[in-house]
Amino acid sequence: MKEVCACLQEEISKGLGKESNPEAAIKCFPTYVRELPNGKENGRFLALDLGGTNFRVLLIELGDKCTMDSRIYAVPQPIMVGPGTGLFDHIAECLASFIKERDLGCELLPLGFTFSFPCKQEGLTKARLACWTKGFRCEGVEGRDVVELLKQAIARRGDVKIKICAVLNDTTGTLMSCAWKNHNCRVGLIVGTGTNACYMEKLEKVELWDGDQEEPHQVIVNTEWGAFGDNGCLDFVRTEYDNTIDRESVNPGKQLFEKMISGMYMGEIARQVLVRLVSDGLLFDGFASDILLEKGAFFTKYISEIESDKPDDFNNCRAILEELGFNSATDGDCANVRHACECVSRRAAHLAAAGVAVLLNRISEESVTVAVDGSVYRFHPHFHSLMVEQISHLIKPGIKFDLMLSEDGSGRGAALVAAVASRTAAKR
Ligand code: BG6
Ligand code: GLC
Repeated sequence: MKEVCACLQEEISKGLGKESNPEAAIKCFPTYVRELPNGKENGRFLALDLGGTNFRVLLIELGDKCTMDSRIYAVPQPIMVGPGTGLFDHIAECLASFIKERDLGCELLPLGFTFSFPCKQEGLTKARLACWTKGFRCEGVEGRDVVELLKQAIARRGDVKIKICAVLNDTTGTLMSCAWKNHNCRVGLIVGTGTNACYMEKLEKVELWDGDQEEPHQVIVNTEWGAFGDNGCLDFVRTEYDNTIDRESVNPGKQLFEKMISGMYMGEIARQVLVRLVSDGLLFDGFASDILLEKGAFFTKYISEIESDKPDDFNNCRAILEELGFNSATDGDCANVRHACECVSRRAAHLAAAGVAVLLNRISEESVTVAVDGSVYRFHPHFHSLMVEQISHLIKPGIKFDLMLSEDGSGRGAALVAAVASRTAAKR
């Protein structure tokens, strides 16, 4: 774990350096978000959330409290891998239908666009997609400004008017949403479909910064740590299962850290391990079911469910094994399946913890809150405690931290980025 931390620390420094950045796997994109909320932000905002489990359109009202109305829309698989114009037309269509349903047409509402993919930001409303991750692969978007593409799609329809005030990553939204009431918050972490973290960095450390030098001398950096290991530096901890997952993915050689940690891959890693145990004659008497042999058949949520069983029963485990076509699993089989799941999730939690420890050591403040979101962190019964334990081993003595579930980064967080941006602009 210490070696992983040392390596990550070095990679982050490389990403922040002007000369070293082009070769760095971890891109450390400055976000142009430089102020945290003070809790007094108010107003009505629209938000779009693309890149997690659900694509959502949201209406947020910020005041003493934050109220929210949202709707989930499907993004059909052909759209995820079809032409970029198709994707942005779909987003614009969902936005238009939300606006019509809520009768919001006569207000020009500010909109925050949570676009959870690696982007090189050139301002608060300009973000060029560096590369797709997490199963998206729409042609004609990489290298382009996604705000511009959204504006064009809205203009093609011509039936709604909106004002895009900010484009942000989900990690930034998560940090901002938690920082609204918690003033120690400096890190935003996602362990969901993908994994990534952002943190507040001193401007002098961000050589890539090309914005103004006015106060505050800090900026949120979106690390895009999912790409950690893409240059081979994690090979000493990667396994044959990781190699298979990578080889069979839509983006081989890319996002190797993410592929060891996040929900898009964890279930499949566990399945690979189970298939190996069967073929070695160590599980189910050496006989696999047809379902277990299908790629993707072992969902990541199964890991959380299996590990939620009480230590002395296998109720969820048995039900899942039945779904997978095993009707006569023994207690021994169940215990082994659970053990395999524990190995996969513990490794993921420990790797994510190593990442957080590196950020806490860099920030080096006495007490820091880490805002966390994502389905793996939310639903796995032990992820939080596994992370806390491991972070405690890896941070410098004297640093205190806590991991806090951050509600609605892409809703409240996006609205806060838009609100803070307009406050900063007014001040200047
Ligand atoms: C959500 C946030 O709760 O978590 C999204 O609002 C974020 O912005 C998502 O992308 C990440 O988790 P998952 O599991 O949906 O990928
Ligand atoms: C992927 C994306 C990143 C996002 C993360 C969590 O790693 O590249 O931008 O923050 O998933 O959703």
